[in-house]
Amino acid sequence: MKINDFKKFFDEKANEFLNHLDLTDILKESFIYSFFSGGKRLRPWIIYNIGRYYNIDIEKLLKIGFAAEIMHTASLIHDDLPAIDNSNFRRGNESNHKKFGEWRAILAGDLGFILPFKIFSTFNKDEAYALNNFFANTTLKLIEGETIDIALEKKIISPTKEKIEDMYIKKTSALFEFSFACSSLLINNNRDFEELKKAGKNFGIAFQIYDDIKDKYGNFNDIGKDLNNDENKYTFLKIFPIEEAKYYADILFDETLLILSKLKFNDFIEELKKIKVLIERK
Ligand code: IPE
Ligand code: IPE
Ligand code: MG
Ligand code: MG
Ligand code: MG
Repeated sequence: MKINDFKKFFDEKANEFLNHLDLTDILKESFIYSFFSGGKRLRPWIIYNIGRYYNIDIEKLLKIGFAAEIMHTASLIHDDLPAIDNSNFRRGNESNHKKFGEWRAILAGDLGFILPFKIFSTFNKDEAYALNNFFANTTLKLIEGETIDIALEKKIISPTKEKIEDMYIKKTSALFEFSFACSSLLINNNRDFEELKKAGKNFGIAFQIYDDIKDKYGNFNDIGKDLNNDENKYTFLKIFPIEEAKYYADILFDETLLILSKLKFNDFIEELKKIKVLIERK
């Protein structure tokens, strides 16, 4: 499915799902603000497209997509906080703490880190166990990655290429590894699981490099978040010329496509090539 069609479909279903949650309005309001403020829905879209190749139920794929997007949104709410990246804008709107205050942003983020596990617990026992375990490891890596990002910025650890790449793999690739590989996990296909994790890892590193390039060279109307926010951060752009960083990202993006072509996910490959313009600098 094309990403724009998917986004409409996903947002309608997510709206029903989130509005029916039995939660204090004060908390729900601030989380829903960020959730529906215009994300690309890239991770649920990957989950959906790959899952359909394995004939996994649409409803199940949507639920896994909600979980991934909820956690992604929570990670962005916390990422924008003054103590982390101190960003005022997200998805073209005020960041959560700017709109609702830090206390509500912290608590909305907390909500989004836990809710996915409630969603997975509605699956059958074996699936719930597998998803919970994979997702817990994913979330832990993301938290570790964010920690390394800030520790590098504060010069608590020293910036080597390996450390920066490790930070990318944890803060960004982990959730893409989950998105690419969760369907093969559900049907116990170990060989595809390992291949798809590798695809997600490469995709995530490339994605983060493109994101870092946009931070430095993009414009607000296209990107919708604070620019030059990474000035004091350690990214590949701090240690390599932009051409070299972009070349490396392109190689990793192509490696992702190569893995997917071995699995014969041909239509999805074509769609991924099209969305490359969305994630690269315009
Ligand atoms: C932003 O992710 C955070 C990074 C990992 C760089 P996206 O670019 O997917 O953000 P949204 O969901 O579309 O806003
Ligand atoms: C990725 O890093 C954020 C997370 C994985 C939470 P960034 O800090 O670069 O993301 P943006 O640029 O704020 O979206
Ligand atoms: Mg950050
Ligand atoms: Mg940030
Ligand atoms: Mg960024």
